[in-house]
Amino acid sequence: MRLTTLTLLSSVLFGVSHGSLYGESNLNHTCQLRLLHPPLQVPCSHRLLETPYLSCSKEAFPNITDSCCTETFGGLVLSTQFWDTYTGLESKGQVLPKNTWTLHGLWPDFCNGSFTQYCDLNRQYDPVPSPNTTTGTSSGTPVPPYTGPSISSFLAPLGKLDLLAYMNKYWISQGSPNGDFWGHEFSKHATCFSSFDLPCCGPSYTNHSDVVDFFQTAVQYYANLPTYGWLSAAGIRPSNATRVSLTDLQSALTKGFGALPYIGCSGPRYNTTEAGKGSLDNGFTELSEVWYYYHVYGRVQRSQGLPVNASINGGSVSSCAKASSALLYPLRAVGSDA
Ligand SMILES: *[C@@H]1O[C@H](CO)[C@@H](O)[C@H](O)[C@H]1NC(C)=O
Ligand SMILES: *[C@@H]1O[C@H](CO)[C@@H](O)[C@H](O)[C@H]1NC(C)=O
Ligand SMILES: *[C@@H]1O[C@H](CO)[C@@H](O)[C@H](O)[C@H]1NC(C)=O
Ligand SMILES: *[C@@H]1O[C@H](CO)[C@@H](O)[C@H](O)[C@H]1NC(C)=O
Ligand SMILES: *[C@@H]1O[C@H](CO)[C@@H](O)[C@H](O)[C@H]1NC(C)=O
Ligand SMILES: *[C@@H]1O[C@H](CO)[C@@H](O)[C@H](O)[C@H]1NC(C)=O
Ligand SMILES: *[C@@H]1O[C@H](CO)[C@@H](O)[C@H](O)[C@H]1NC(C)=O
Ligand SMILES: *[C@@H]1O[C@H](CO)[C@@H](O)[C@H](O)[C@H]1NC(C)=O
Repeated sequence: MRLTTLTLLSSVLFGVSHGSLYGESNLNHTCQLRLLHPPLQVPCSHRLLETPYLSCSKEAFPNITDSCCTETFGGLVLSTQFWDTYTGLESKGQVLPKNTWTLHGLWPDFCNGSFTQYCDLNRQYDPVPSPNTTTGTSSGTPVPPYTGPSISSFLAPLGKLDLLAYMNKYWISQGSPNGDFWGHEFSKHATCFSSFDLPCCGPSYTNHSDVVDFFQTAVQYYANLPTYGWLSAAGIRPSNATRVSLTDLQSALTKGFGALPYIGCSGPRYNTTEAGKGSLDNGFTELSEVWYYYHVYGRVQRSQGLPVNASINGGSVSSCAKASSALLYPLRAVGSDA
C-alpha cells in the first residue's frame, strides 16, 4: 500500500511514467542546448546542458547524464539489414526494392553484447510476439499478442506520409504485412532504448510520436549504410551462377563501413552440400543478413554513430561458411523486386 502511494505521489510530482526504465521526469529533455549554444557563452543553468556523451563510455550512466539524452541502457546499437529473395506477399504489391538490401531494425544491445526485449508492455504493438515472453523462457513475463490497429496506421495522423512511403519501399517483411514487422521491431527493441523511453518525449508528446521518432531514427541509420553499393564497388553482385568468399564480403563491407559488421547466412550448412562434403565447416551458405555495430554520441535519435567491430565483445562475427567460394549471394526470385 505504502509503496503504491509513494509511486503515485512521485508520478504526480515528477511525471514519472510506468513505462520508464530509469524513472526519468517527463520534462526538459531537449538534448540540444549544448549543441546550439556552446556552454561557455550561455549563462543558463548547467543542469540544462546535455553533453552528447558516447554510449558505453564511463559517462554513459544515469548517475552522470540524463538517460534521455545519452543512451545509457542499450549503448551498443545495431543497425541491421536483410537480403531476402522474396516476400511471400508479392500478389499484394509487397515487393523488394531493386538492387538494395532492406531494413531489418535498430537494436539496443547492452555494452557487453547481451540484450533485453519487450521492455515496455504498455507499448506492445506486435501481433506475433517472438519470443512470447520477455526473457524467451517460460519463467519470463508473457508478452500478449497485439490485436489493435496496425502500427502502420500510426503515421498518417502525425503527417508522416513520406516516412510511411519510404518504409513501405525499404522496410519489407517476409511472410507478413510490413506493419506487423514494424510493430515487432518497435515493441521488441525500441522500448529497450533509454532515449526512446516514453517520458523522454516530454510535454510535446502526442499519441505515438515515440513510434514515429523511432521509425525516423531507424531509417536514418539505414540510409547511411549502402550494403549493395559497398559490395558492388568490390565487384560482388547477386548471381545464381557463381559463389563468393566470406573474407571478400568482410573486406568490402569493412572498407565501406569503417569496422567489421556481422554477416549472417541461411540455407544449407556447407558440409551438408556437395561442395562441402567431408569438410568440418558447417557454416550456412546463403548470404541473408548484415548487422552494423555502433557506439552512439548522445541520444540515438541524433544519428551520430561511431562504427565498432562486431567482434567488440569477442563473439562470433558470422554464421556463414568460411571455406573459399562457399557462399551464394542469390538473385531475387522473378517478380519479387521492383
Ligand atoms: C524544467 O525546466 C524549467 C525551466 O528551467 C524548470 O523551472 C523546471 O524545474 C524543470 N523541471 C524539471 C523536472 O527539471
Ligand atoms: C555511476 O554508476 C556506475 C555504474 O553503476 C559506477 O561504475 C560509477 O562509479 C558511478 N559514477 C559516479 C560518479 O557515481
Ligand atoms: C551485461 O550487461 C547487463 C547490463 O549491464 C547485465 O545486466 C548483464 O548481467 C551483463 N551480462 C553479462 C554476461 O555480463
Ligand atoms: C509461448 O509459445 C509457446 C510455444 O508456442 C507456448 O507453448 C506457450 O504457451 C506460449 N506462452 C505464452 C505465455 O503465451
Ligand atoms: C492512443 O493510441 C491508442 C492505440 O495505440 C489508443 O487506444 C488510444 O485511444 C489513443 N489515445 C488517444 C488520446 O488518442
Ligand atoms: C559438419 O561439421 C560439424 C562441425 O564441424 C561436424 O560436427 C559434423 O559432423 C559435420 N557434418 C557432416 C555431415 O559432415
Ligand atoms: C577492428 O578490428 C581491427 C582488427 O583487429 C582493428 O585493426 C580495427 O582498428 C578495429 N576497428 C575499430 C573501428 O575498432
Ligand atoms: C536465385 O536463387 C534463389 C535461391 O536459390 C532463388 O530463390 C531465386 O528464385 C533465384 N533467382 C533467379 C532469378 O533464378
